[in-house]
Amino acid sequence: MLNRSRRTRGIAATIAVLALGLTACSTGSDGKATSTSTAGGGQGGTIKVGFSQLGAESGWRTANTESVKASLTAENGIDLTFSDAQQKQENQIKALRDFIDQGVDVIAFSPVVETGWDEVLQEIKDAEIPVVLVDRTVDTLVVDPYVTWIGADFEAEGITAGEWVVENHPDAKIFELQGTLGSGAQVDRETGFDATVGADHIVGKASGNFTRAEGKAAMEAALQAYPDMNLLFAHNDDMGLGAIEAIEAAGKVPGKDIIIVTVDGVRDGLQALVDKKFNYVVECNPVFGDQILDAIKKVHSGAQLPRTTIVFDQAFDQTITQADVDARLY
Ligand code: AHR
Repeated sequence: MLNRSRRTRGIAATIAVLALGLTACSTGSDGKATSTSTAGGGQGGTIKVGFSQLGAESGWRTANTESVKASLTAENGIDLTFSDAQQKQENQIKALRDFIDQGVDVIAFSPVVETGWDEVLQEIKDAEIPVVLVDRTVDTLVVDPYVTWIGADFEAEGITAGEWVVENHPDAKIFELQGTLGSGAQVDRETGFDATVGADHIVGKASGNFTRAEGKAAMEAALQAYPDMNLLFAHNDDMGLGAIEAIEAAGKVPGKDIIIVTVDGVRDGLQALVDKKFNYVVECNPVFGDQILDAIKKVHSGAQLPRTTIVFDQAFDQTITQADVDARLY
């Protein structure tokens, strides 16, 4: 039953953990569910898990999917059904309903946006299937919609980016390239950044939906609309990389004429930092499949878990070296 008086949002920080290690494997994402095993649900110690990934929109997402698949293996006692929603909420809702029909033991998912989950979360709850929420947050009227959430502190990432801007470019005229509108990553990065730099420094905003192509298109339009803009805050590396193409095509120098601050720290983003095209990158670590595995096992066994687990992030400026980039795992 829905409690209309209270919304739950997975965001409070209680524990910091550092996600380590990445074993490469192919994502094989085609928008369809793929099962790594044909074993029966929950038998012989195997935990049957349905994982709904929101898409494959960015380098971060690809690394996150690889980490999840490297950890949720038959060797680790998991019978995984993995589904890629291609950034469409209706695909995710369908996948979650399929998991209910399959009678999985645990559902894990990374929600593409925060709202619109009430009905399906209630159905999962009625089916008594525990939920491990991954990466992004939900805003729902369902009481106790998930057992535990593992992800980054997006608001802190926005604040870190904003503090660097205030310290290094206090008079900047900022264009903000937002991620998927209504996603936890967009809402919270924007909240943290805007509060830190001050709204009067932001000359314009547009969404690039966390993709390189849409980031480029949004930047092309912004260069026309806001000719006095001299600093870009992009909510992820991919949009920032797309923006570089637009800036160069307009005859400007990324990293000089337009200072670029991004979030993620994937290898391509850090390479742009070494190449002096990006100026500052706040990390969002995607490699936490081992924490997800641990949470799923504990949830399945009925062990106590923290309500939230925050994945540790750092930040990089142009002092990063080529050797650091070459050593990057994703
Ligand atoms: O939710 C995490 C964000 O999603 C990453 O910063 C972005 O690259 C991805 O699309």
